[in-house]
Amino acid sequence: MLRAEHIEKSYNGTQVLKDVSLNIKQGEKVVIIGPSGSGKSTLLRSISGLEKADAGSVSYKGVPIREKGAYDRTEIGMIFQSFDLFEHLTALENIMLAPVLVHKENKERAKEKAMELLEIVHLSERADYYPQELSGGQQQRIAIARALAMNPKLMFFDEPTSALDPEMTVEVLDIVVELVKGGMTVVIVTHEMEFARRVGDRVVFMDQGTIISDMPAERLTMSAAENPRIKQFLSQLGQYN
Ligand SMILES: Nc1ncnc2c1ncn2[C@@H]1O[C@H](COP(=O)(O)OP(=O)(O)O)[C@@H](O)[C@H]1O
Ligand SMILES: [Mg+2]
Repeated sequence: MLRAEHIEKSYNGTQVLKDVSLNIKQGEKVVIIGPSGSGKSTLLRSISGLEKADAGSVSYKGVPIREKGAYDRTEIGMIFQSFDLFEHLTALENIMLAPVLVHKENKERAKEKAMELLEIVHLSERADYYPQELSGGQQQRIAIARALAMNPKLMFFDEPTSALDPEMTVEVLDIVVELVKGGMTVVIVTHEMEFARRVGDRVVFMDQGTIISDMPAERLTMSAAENPRIKQFLSQLGQYN
């Protein structure tokens, strides 16, 4: 579905991604882990088409991702740590906005669909609330509903729960679990190891701008035993969690 090959990226002369290749198959759930600053967010931005890599190629369903108009950009959804909802719009309006503006959907239809999505993220009763009237976890669930409104086929999540306390983290991860059960292809950067093992088909470990391990999720514990860098990373998480 998505094929990234030999991606390189530097900022101000510092190389942040070094020859990174990653393939994502339709329906696959890929979890990316690794220390802060290892290049995870840069990789997501580079392979989702948000940012241009310095070298290498990315294709989505066989089409180069930088080719304008060659594929439907809205098929790729992205969720960030900061929810970035439009503050002056209600939850419902946030979800309806892009379908109406970008997909030129009829307002009534867009509203109907937004209400269905609110149900999926268990926030039907908050349709008319503004972002600042919602908890962080609720805002993130609205952000997920907003992304889903564009009918994405592939979704990237960049530490969707890092800004949330444990209770809200569970609320948001439960939604991701439901999406995954529905067959959505997802790539998710997370420090939630229990979640990674539960939903991931593959766990990709990044360190200093390279992928140092790409393994089936069930091998994570074993890999930690074999690889000192993974072991160190996981034990640090244990300390901090
Ligand atoms: N827009 C940017 N401009 C300059 N440096 C950046 C930018 N984005 C990321 N970096 C640097 O690239 C490195 C990798 O960052 P990032 O991809 O955010 O790592 P991670 O998501 O794994 O924490 C860091 O050293 C960071 O400071
Ligand atoms: Mg990051």
